[in-house]
Amino acid sequence: MSPSMTALVVEEENKKYQRGVKHLCDNGLTKVPTKYIWPEPDRPIFTKFDKLTKPKQNLKLPIIDITELLGPNRSHVLQTIAEACENYGFFQVVNHGMEGDVSRNMIEVCKKFFELPYEERSKYMTADMSAPVRCGTSFNQSKDNVFCWRDFLKLSAHPLPDYLPYWPSSPTDFRSLAAIYAKETKDMFDKMVKAILESLEIDGDGDDAAEELKAGSQLVVVNCYPPCPQPELTLGMPPHSDYGFLTLLLQDDVEGLQIMYRDEWVTVDPIPGSFVVNVGDHLEQRRYKSVLHRVLVNSTKPRISVASLHSFPFTSVVKPSPKLTDEHNPPQYMDTDFDTFLQYISSREPKWKNFLESRKIHHIR
Ligand code: OGA
Ligand code: NI
Repeated sequence: MSPSMTALVVEEENKKYQRGVKHLCDNGLTKVPTKYIWPEPDRPIFTKFDKLTKPKQNLKLPIIDITELLGPNRSHVLQTIAEACENYGFFQVVNHGMEGDVSRNMIEVCKKFFELPYEERSKYMTADMSAPVRCGTSFNQSKDNVFCWRDFLKLSAHPLPDYLPYWPSSPTDFRSLAAIYAKETKDMFDKMVKAILESLEIDGDGDDAAEELKAGSQLVVVNCYPPCPQPELTLGMPPHSDYGFLTLLLQDDVEGLQIMYRDEWVTVDPIPGSFVVNVGDHLEQRRYKSVLHRVLVNSTKPRISVASLHSFPFTSVVKPSPKLTDEHNPPQYMDTDFDTFLQYISSREPKWKNFLESRKIHHIR
């Protein structure tokens, strides 16, 4: 083949990958295409040796019971939240008040969305980061050299009436079920914020963070991970930390989420109907850490997860609470805002903790 012919073939192949993993799989696949093969050190299983000597052990995250949090044991639960945010950056929430039907319906209707013909889903595919609804694939499909085994649907969700008219109208019950889900997740977030601020002892008068977060942004990200013929060669999502204050993640019963714990990747055990909550970049300070996590895929079961990312309004300047900084504890990061983040991701990929690192202040002592 002439070099120009080869270039054409590569361009055609790339176009195919832009349509997403679901589309690729629907057309039959027995091997992972090169585009999705990660360099060896980044793959899920490093060596045969690791596989043989380390029994597969899942991580049981600290569990927070919301009814306990709202009862006489509040201070004890706040202590558990503080320890979880310090030691793991993650915890699981049970008895959160969301009816089982609401979360199950959300997962089911999202499954149906990804089963729609490609042409229907492609209506929402856009490179415009500010679009209220955005379908796509991989992590950052216009920048990624190696692709991830993941398709997504991102919905701006707060304030809901501003965005709901743009949400997919097919499947027919998508909008109504996703709207209930988004609203109840937002209510759960508002409760979590109060608890988190209290656990840091920065709640109460003179700190309007809770009010600002209540009026803040919510992005519902539906992740679809189709079964993968060679899951050991690829990743559903690369190591990253979440932009925002807190993420509330609903998973179906298929495991896949791994978090970095004591310098190792450990799989989080899914608890049906629970939420995995994690510290985002905006909540990181001396005590709580925004922890790296990634997603593995598997060869047999499709997996759906719904991440609800919450933060300050897009117009806010994000800066440390004055109650957490003083002469001896100066701010660790420069004040930042959403425009700075958008500029950052338009020039490179926000993998690992790159964005947060880029805002770090290097104090000279
Ligand atoms: C995310 C994320 C984990 C998962 O959407 O940011 O980390 O299990 N998702 O899908
Ligand atoms: Ni994440």
